[in-house]
Amino acid sequence: MPSRLYRSSLPTNLLWLLLVLLSPFLVLVTAASLGSQARALLHWKSTLQGGQLLASWNIDSRPCNWTGVACSVTRKGRLVITDVHLPDMSLAGPLDAFNFSSLGSLATLNLSCNRLNGTIPPAIATLSQLVTLDLTGNLFVGRIPIEMGSMKGLQFLSLSQNQIMSSVPPSLSNLSDLTHLDLRQNKLRGAIPGELGRLEKLRFLELGDNQLSGSIPPGLGNLTRLYHLALYENQLTGSIPRQLGDLRDLVYFSLSNNSLTGTLLSTLGNLTKLQYLFSWRNHLSGFIPFEIGNLIDVFNLDLSSNMLTGSIPFSLGNMSKLNILHLFDNELSGSIPPQIGNLIDVFNLDLSSNMLTGSIPFSLGNMCKLNILHLYENKLSDPIPPSLGNLRKLTDLRLFTNRLSGALPSEMNNIIGLTSLQLSNNNFSGYLPPDICKGGALSYLAMYEDVRSHIATSLKKGYYRSLIPDQAKHVILHCMQLKSWVEVFPE
Ligand SMILES: *[C@@H]1O[C@H](CO)[C@@H](O)[C@H](O)[C@H]1NC(C)=O
Ligand SMILES: *[C@@H]1O[C@H](CO)[C@@H](O)[C@H](O)[C@H]1NC(C)=O
Ligand SMILES: *[C@@H]1O[C@H](CO)[C@@H](O)[C@H](O)[C@H]1NC(C)=O
Ligand SMILES: *[C@@H]1O[C@H](CO)[C@@H](O)[C@H](O)[C@H]1NC(C)=O
Ligand SMILES: *[C@@H]1O[C@H](CO)[C@@H](O)[C@H](O)[C@H]1NC(C)=O
Ligand SMILES: *[C@@H]1O[C@H](CO)[C@@H](O)[C@H](O)[C@H]1NC(C)=O
Ligand SMILES: *[C@@H]1O[C@H](CO)[C@@H](O)[C@H](O)[C@H]1NC(C)=O
Ligand SMILES: *[C@@H]1O[C@H](CO)[C@@H](O)[C@H](O)[C@H]1NC(C)=O
Ligand SMILES: *[C@@H]1O[C@H](CO)[C@@H](O)[C@H](O)[C@H]1NC(C)=O
Ligand SMILES: *[C@@H]1O[C@H](CO)[C@@H](O)[C@H](O)[C@H]1NC(C)=O
Repeated sequence: MPSRLYRSSLPTNLLWLLLVLLSPFLVLVTAASLGSQARALLHWKSTLQGGQLLASWNIDSRPCNWTGVACSVTRKGRLVITDVHLPDMSLAGPLDAFNFSSLGSLATLNLSCNRLNGTIPPAIATLSQLVTLDLTGNLFVGRIPIEMGSMKGLQFLSLSQNQIMSSVPPSLSNLSDLTHLDLRQNKLRGAIPGELGRLEKLRFLELGDNQLSGSIPPGLGNLTRLYHLALYENQLTGSIPRQLGDLRDLVYFSLSNNSLTGTLLSTLGNLTKLQYLFSWRNHLSGFIPFEIGNLIDVFNLDLSSNMLTGSIPFSLGNMSKLNILHLFDNELSGSIPPQIGNLIDVFNLDLSSNMLTGSIPFSLGNMCKLNILHLYENKLSDPIPPSLGNLRKLTDLRLFTNRLSGALPSEMNNIIGLTSLQLSNNNFSGYLPPDICKGGALSYLAMYEDVRSHIATSLKKGYYRSLIPDQAKHVILHCMQLKSWVEVFPE
């Protein structure tokens, strides 16, 4: 803000020089006098609780020097208040007594993170010069005033983290300079107005964590400058409009936790700047498009808890920046493509609760940053590849309920940080690797009947202290060198 440059204490001639130099930035309105603006702010303050931090707000001093207040000079050389910046000031109470018509010169109003309550007065729309309005994190209820659609200068609007219950007024689509619209975490209802597609300059659109319903308007595909589009945690239905494939600048895209149907379209493959793609917990069906492999900048891909079918496309192996890959709880079939092993930055891989067949690819042993590996509840067969012993950072390995067979490879003794190892309901044979508890971290080991007969052998080797059958038909073993417990679930 240039406003802080103009202080009332500046000599008049210097003020005029600045005026001429900086006239493009000057306020054009005929505003109330500084004195009446000051009185308006003082009046509002008098209706609030917790204004202790505003001790400088005093009728005897110039408001331009008050905490959180800044002024600019109008064309006519008058000082007016242009900036009220009071985030996190413990202010409590309503906006009702805020005389917006006195403060029509405001360009910035930042009241975020206070305890302001009541409704947002429609009169707020008289702030016709406002560029930035940040009411994040207060206790506002009621509606978003339709009148706000007339605040033509607004570039930044956040009402997020309040308790606003209305629909999103289509009138907001008249805010043609808006670049940032954040309405997250309210109780907004109704459909997303398709008119929002007219906000050509919009870069950031956050509507997550509300109660919005209806389908995603295809018109949002016109917002080609968007880099952030978040519609998660609503009650949206219908399919993902193919027009969203036109949002080529998208970096963050979240549709999670709605009731979306239809397929993940191949048009998404054009969103090559994406870094985050979330669509977990929807009802998406059909294949994961092969084109997803074009999204080579994605860090975090979560398509879990849908109804996706078909096999995991091997093109996923091109998404080399992935850190987190969650495809669990779908209906994916076929084998795990060995190309997944190219994703050496992944630390959390969860393909559980699908219908995957074949063996665990040897190449998974290349994913040496893996911390969590969940492949449980599939139909994976064959022995565990010894290469998994390379995954030294693994703490949580869950392979239960598959058709894995053979002995646990002795290489697994190398994974010393395991805290949870769940192998039950497979068809393992052979011995438990004798040192599996040696790392000291293991606190949870679950196996089924299939290894029970071999426990005695392990016991002889001295790694378990006792075998205690309990009433719950569980057999609990205590790893001797460690403090940890080992559970064996008999059939
Ligand atoms: C502004 O207030 C500060 C203290 O808050 C004071 O030091 C300074 O002199 C004041 N300036 C004017 C021009 O009143
Ligand atoms: C409002 O103030 C808070 C706290 O300083 C800041 O984080 C936020 O970015 C500000 N809002 C705008 C739009 O600048
Ligand atoms: C608003 O906050 C003030 C101050 O905490 C409180 O006295 C008042 O009851 C609140 N009003 C509503 C409608 O919650
Ligand atoms: C708001 O201020 C204007 C002067 O700028 C005044 O005419 C009006 O009466 C004030 N409104 C209220 C409700 O105090
Ligand atoms: C946008 O503004 C125009 C002109 O003021 C008005 O006619 C129109 O109804 C507004 N659009 C919406 C959706 O409110
Ligand atoms: C989106 O753009 C298309 C083509 O330019 C246009 O026909 C349509 O009306 C626009 N939709 C919205 C909501 O702006
Ligand atoms: C999903 O959304 C519902 C409300 O729509 C919410 O209750 C639930 O906590 C959300 N689930 C997660 C995991 O965030
Ligand atoms: C991606 O964009 C190109 C145009 O640049 C278009 O020809 C192609 O059909 C789009 N791909 C998909 C899958 O939509
Ligand atoms: C993956 O990358 C390889 C070369 O790096 C390329 O030949 C292949 O076409 C890419 N596949 C996809 C689906 O992007
Ligand atoms: C379990 O493994 C044994 C050989 O160790 C094999 O004979 C049997 O068919 C397997 N059972 C299943 C269900 O795969």
